[in-house]
Amino acid sequence: MCGIIAYAGYKECQPILLESLKRLEYRGYDSCGIAVRVESRKSRRGRINPTPTIEVYKDVGRVGDLAKSFPQIQGLKGGGRGTPVDGQDARPTRLQTPGSGLGIAHTRWATHGEVSKSNAHPHLDCSGRIAVVHNGVIENFQSLRDELTREGHHFSSETDTEVIPHLIERYYDGDLEGAVTRALADVRGTYAIIVLAAGHKKLVAARRESPLIIGIGDRENFVASDVAAVLDYTDRVIYLEDGDIALVSEGSISITSRESGRGTPDSRLQTLDYRPVQREEQVIPWSLEEAQKGGYEHFMLKEIHEQPKAIENTLSGHISLIERTVSLNVRKEAGLEDIVLVACGTSSHAALIAEYVIGKLCHLPVRVKVASEFNCHEMALEKTWVWGISQSGETLDTLRAIKKARTLGCATLAITNVPGSSITRIAEQVFYTRAGPEIGVAATKTFLTQLVALYLLAFSFASPDIMNAEGLIEGLRLLPSRVRQVLDGAEGIIPHARHLSRYDNAFFIGRGLNYPVAMEGALKLKEISYIHAEAYAAGELKHGPFALLGPSTPVVAMATRDDTYEPMLTSIKEIKARGSQVIALAEEGDEDIEQFVDAVIRIPPIDPLFSPFLNSVALQLLAYYAAKERGCPIDLPANLAKSVTVP
Ligand code: G6P
Repeated sequence: MCGIIAYAGYKECQPILLESLKRLEYRGYDSCGIAVRVESRKSRRGRINPTPTIEVYKDVGRVGDLAKSFPQIQGLKGGGRGTPVDGQDARPTRLQTPGSGLGIAHTRWATHGEVSKSNAHPHLDCSGRIAVVHNGVIENFQSLRDELTREGHHFSSETDTEVIPHLIERYYDGDLEGAVTRALADVRGTYAIIVLAAGHKKLVAARRESPLIIGIGDRENFVASDVAAVLDYTDRVIYLEDGDIALVSEGSISITSRESGRGTPDSRLQTLDYRPVQREEQVIPWSLEEAQKGGYEHFMLKEIHEQPKAIENTLSGHISLIERTVSLNVRKEAGLEDIVLVACGTSSHAALIAEYVIGKLCHLPVRVKVASEFNCHEMALEKTWVWGISQSGETLDTLRAIKKARTLGCATLAITNVPGSSITRIAEQVFYTRAGPEIGVAATKTFLTQLVALYLLAFSFASPDIMNAEGLIEGLRLLPSRVRQVLDGAEGIIPHARHLSRYDNAFFIGRGLNYPVAMEGALKLKEISYIHAEAYAAGELKHGPFALLGPSTPVVAMATRDDTYEPMLTSIKEIKARGSQVIALAEEGDEDIEQFVDAVIRIPPIDPLFSPFLNSVALQLLAYYAAKERGCPIDLPANLAKSVTVP
């Protein structure tokens, strides 16, 4: 999803903005751009124009290509001529000396208007002296645009964003912050914006329902969509809250706000009454090394291999092997009678596995809702506990569901991997997974640590009898080493991945708690290898999808040795009878399976309750190597975004 970075400081901002944009590439994007404030500019005839101006460079494609617009920047590859900005004076296309310590930059993930240079951000007002980058969606942009057009404003893109610089221009009378405030009062929708104006040595940043942080440096400050963009420079950040407007310059940060408090659900207050607020500074517990590839070919492969450590970190301090207990900071209030798990994408698969585990161990009614379909029908509001599961903590559909649940009186819990993310400020209680930064778009280690968190929560609500009888704590303890064993067997998965990579379609089947694992396996494969993959509960395949079986449609089957094993063998035989190849995930030592399937991926033995962990890792590797064989851009799949901050 769109990424934003801005710099105000004593250094040349262009190289910093470009490097930071690269750190935001993982969010997913299709075009990018930069605007910098230039104090003075040399004309072609060598005359110095002392009036500060804004220069904008943008392009379709990768940040690396945009860098070629800046031939004079040391250490950056390139040398091509700068790209004139559409609708702007096309003559001075290179930055002229002296450089600038104030600039904004953006990676765009198209929502309004095709992928094109003119639709890429930053966007300018008519004078070319106000530039804006934006993440989010302006819902009433069409009526604003019509209004502004009638007033004589000229638009050069199809985006919703472009109304913002024009609105600011409409209200600008020398007071930039005042103009931004008035412009935002006209706007309905979601936004994180940063405004750069030629006449001001400060940036104005504002947010409503889209993430925005301020990175604090020494004689330099940053504003960004997330901490990954600033980790090179600082680990000190402030998380802006909905309704905040921040003024950021080289040496100062001041914040005003128009919302009444943390987690205020109403994000559409239209008041101009802003008051100064103090937002707490936080230190990010992630290191720069964690956010780098560390010798791996892709972030995804690195993150798959980091899973044993991520599991250990998430378990750390929460289990007692001697007493066979789980201790968490999460309280279950008396009177809560059912649980609703709300999530999107991979996180919703973790929720579906948890539904099974909580149902089995805790005898609590539990349901899963994908966040975009969340409603409160059938919920006894004050008796329902709603858990929002989001690795990024910024997925808008999940945030909105948790806000709605809280407004209606439900108890709320957030499970997230990102300290300080928006969901942590909306939900009443928070459980952090400790996977460290995840950069690959396809979630891997955050998924496994979500499972750890959800299993811990389930175990903490299970009766002591169950905990003692079932050896559950021992199962958790074994997880890191068992996952390591799957990783050690990665070489053995590569031939199966190569084979799978030759097909255009595949089915994944599972039963019981391995049905959502099949869903996750299919999602991983389609996300990164572009093979069309669908997951089915094994028993459902015969109700329609059988029409698609045959030699060109392989089936990946979860054949875990639990009470679903026999029915799974029946399904496999039915599939084989229709001519499809079957690759089974089966336990080491299960020789019987060989006679029924075409290939077997071996999984170390473990209590079947924990099989989702090991099967998921094997499926991640299967997807990874299939995508690699097909030459796909594994860390940045087409059209996808790491954190989806629009509805
Ligand atoms: C995007 C990502 C998925 C992720 C989903 C939910 O679609 O590409 O990998 O599972 O968002 O993200 P969340 O941060 O809420 O877990």
